[in-house]
Amino acid sequence: MTDVILMNQLNLVLQFVVAAFLFMAIVVKIKGRPRLHGLLMVMAYVQNLGLTLFIMVPLLLAGLPVVSSYSNMESVVFIVHYLLGVATLILASFLVARFALARFTILNCRGKWLMRMTAFLWSVTLGLGLFLYSSGFFPG
Ligand code: HEM
Repeated sequence: MTDVILMNQLNLVLQFVVAAFLFMAIVVKIKGRPRLHGLLMVMAYVQNLGLTLFIMVPLLLAGLPVVSSYSNMESVVFIVHYLLGVATLILASFLVARFALARFTILNCRGKWLMRMTAFLWSVTLGLGLFLYSSGFFPG
């Protein structure tokens, strides 16, 4: 149980780092530096992927949180968090792969609406995760 608590706490702290990268990426985009925006997004993506593979998925496979009942509001929020998180990873993987295939130049980086959607889903997923942590659903 101590391990689970530590993993949840580590996840929480590192998710704030991801949020900081997302925020910086949006700020530099507004300031007119699209390549730096892309590079910061790549860093946020790599961190998010790492946290998913090495903390969130193992915790889920270990049976925590236990999704006991669909009538429980937190369980529903968890399922939404899970589904939006998967959708965010799929969209972000596409954006990052396209950038990488163009050797990290902005040549192929179009798609304002796709990026807006990804940023929106990512923010909602982060917010729901924070809610679940603060409500005690993720023990920490
Ligand atoms: C996971 C990843 C990403 C997210 C969440 C994201 C998010 C965003 C957002 C919210 C905008 C502002 C859209 C608007 O004008 O309202 C934007 C614009 C833009 N981003 Fe990204 N972005 C991502 C990855 C990338 C990558 C890898 C690049 C490559 C350099 C990139 C290049 C651009 C460019 C060039 C624009 C301006 C697009 C346009 O106005 O048509 N983005 N992005």
